[in-house]
Amino acid sequence: MADLRTRYLGMELRSPLVASASPLTGSLDGLAKLEAAGAGAVVLPSLFEEELEEASRPAAYLALISQARQALSIPVIASLNGVSRSGWVRYATRMEQAGADAVELNIYYASSRPGRSGSEIEWRYLDVVRSVRRAIQIPLAVKLSPYFSSLANMAGQLAEAGANGLVLFNRFYQPDVNIEALEVAPRLELSTSVELRLPLRWVAILHRRFGVSLAASTGVHTAEDVIKTLLAGADVAMMTSALLRNGPDHLRPLESGLRDWMDRHHYETVDQLRGLLSQRSIPDPAAFERANYIMTLASHPLTTPRGAG
Ligand SMILES: Cc1cc2nc3c(=O)[nH]c(=O)nc-3n(C[C@H](O)[C@H](O)[C@H](O)COP(=O)(O)O)c2cc1C
Repeated sequence: MADLRTRYLGMELRSPLVASASPLTGSLDGLAKLEAAGAGAVVLPSLFEEELEEASRPAAYLALISQARQALSIPVIASLNGVSRSGWVRYATRMEQAGADAVELNIYYASSRPGRSGSEIEWRYLDVVRSVRRAIQIPLAVKLSPYFSSLANMAGQLAEAGANGLVLFNRFYQPDVNIEALEVAPRLELSTSVELRLPLRWVAILHRRFGVSLAASTGVHTAEDVIKTLLAGADVAMMTSALLRNGPDHLRPLESGLRDWMDRHHYETVDQLRGLLSQRSIPDPAAFERANYIMTLASHPLTTPRGAG
């Protein structure tokens, strides 16, 4: 039988299927169901910097970490979401003390100030990562956005600042406009497999570049999606939308689909297939870069062949 064990953030996981931060991971019941269905690890919903002012929320969060740590045998990853330099970073220490196996730091900051440059914002991100790194001994993952001019450079700097892993990517919820009520309103839509392409590309490009673990996140819904992330070079495939839509038991067919595929292709371990289609493994590395753009456009049936017409 195929061996699904994988390493993530220096921890051995029984499977590369990981439940990312969502309401499902916010209760002991949800966490127990995810573990029973085969999750290799779980990421708790984020404790937001803005929530630290609320009296009961941080305490409840820390209690969930310790209860989860006692109840589960898989790694429990706590999640912290903030960008300022204020005292919230100390909650990373509290998360560690409460029993978290690792911390995932979600840094999300959409600046609408034209005077603030990209490098200024990047500096701020790195500063937060350094502060959290200093505050804890346990592994630290950084969940980031795909919106950087030079993502490969940023990934390297995050690794240097102390990130042990990168979660590619956070998914953003853009506000929508209601044309009858003339209102701007938040609107949550779950992802589909189409969205996997962006994480897939960057996992393939960053595989084995900076000595950090890689988690593919956004658009993982099927066993095929999981296999793609591993071939691109991911250490784990994270899921939220698929689990919210289908429930924790959705992990079961994904695991058996992965096992079946590995058996058919004669892979005994996940390590044997990991990264086979990463940028450094394929004969044409440009497939993940700009050259692919023209080829993709040319693949549409209505595109006029170059040189013709
Ligand atoms: C209802 C809901 C709540 C979420 N809460 C968090 C959160 O607290 N912290 C976080 O980092 N991501 C959160 N996410 C983002 C997910 O962890 C995940 O990154 C995103 O949904 C993309 O993955 P998917 O395509 O598998 O859904 C949330 C997503 C949803 C749909």
